[in-house]
Amino acid sequence: MEDIIVCEGLNKYYSGVHALKDLSLKIKKDSVVGLIGDNGAGKSTLIKILSGAHQPDSGHIYFEGNKVKFKSTKEAMNLGIETIYQYSALIPEMSIARNIFIGREQTQYNVGNFGLMKTKTMQDDAMKALTDVELHLRSPDTPVNQLSGGERQGVVIARAMYFKSKVLILDEPTNHLSVKETNKVLRFVEGLKSQGVTSIFITHNLSHVYPIADHLCVMARGEKIADLDKKDTTIDHLTDLLVNG
Ligand SMILES: Nc1ncnc2c1ncn2[C@@H]1O[C@H](COP(=O)(O)OP(=O)(O)O)[C@@H](O)[C@H]1O
Ligand SMILES: [Mg+2]
Repeated sequence: MEDIIVCEGLNKYYSGVHALKDLSLKIKKDSVVGLIGDNGAGKSTLIKILSGAHQPDSGHIYFEGNKVKFKSTKEAMNLGIETIYQYSALIPEMSIARNIFIGREQTQYNVGNFGLMKTKTMQDDAMKALTDVELHLRSPDTPVNQLSGGERQGVVIARAMYFKSKVLILDEPTNHLSVKETNKVLRFVEGLKSQGVTSIFITHNLSHVYPIADHLCVMARGEKIADLDKKDTTIDHLTDLLVNG
C-alpha cells in the first residue's frame, strides 16, 4: 500500500518549548491512524503542521509523493487535507446545508442568474452528503444547534467527504461526547475508509480510537515513541506506553 503522507524529521519550537522533536511518520493511503498521547505530547502541533496552520522549523512533508510546504490551511485543503477541530467551525444558528457549504459558496456556487438553481443543487448535494454519513434522518434545513454533539461531528465529516478530501484529520473529535455519540463518530470515521479517505484520529483516550484504527502512533514529550500496526500490538501494550511513556 502506498503512503499518502510522509513526514521526515519535523521540529517545532514555541518560544523555548521544543514541542515536536525530529518526528518522522508515514501514513498509508485509505487507513485509519490513531494518534495517541497524553496532554502536551505534541499531537496538535503535529497535525497543525500537516494541515498548514503552523510551519515546522525544520523537516519535510511529502503528500502523494510530492514535497509540500503549506503556508496556510487553505493550501492543504486545496490538496485534499481537511482538519476537524474539537470545536469545529460550525455556525449553530445556520442550517446543516448552509454549514456544509460555508466558505465555499462563492467559489463553487456563484450567485447571480443561477442563484436559485444553485440553492436547490446545494440542498440536494447536502442531502446526499448527509446520507453518505448516515445522517439521513435530519432535514438539511435543520439548524445545527438542534443537533447532538455526535451529529455535529457528522456534519463536519459529511462536509469533508462532499468536498472529496483525501485525508481527514480529527483532533480529539470525541472529547465531551456521550458514549452513544462517540460511537456515532467512530462509525462515521470507519465509513470513510471504504470511500477512499485516509483519516488521522487524535485522542488521549485510547479506547476511543482502538476499535477502528489500523495503525497506532504514540507520542510523548514531542517525540514519537511507538508506531505500530494494530495486529502487532494490544490495548494493554499501548496503555503501558501511554502511561509510562
Ligand atoms: N501556541 C503555543 N505556544 C506555546 N507553547 C505551545 C503552543 N502550543 C502548544 N504549546 C506547547 O507545546 C507542547 C505540545 O502541545 P500540543 O501539541 O498542544 O500537545 P497535545 O495536542 O498532545 O496535547 C505543550 O508543552 C504545549 O504547552
Ligand atoms: Mg491537542
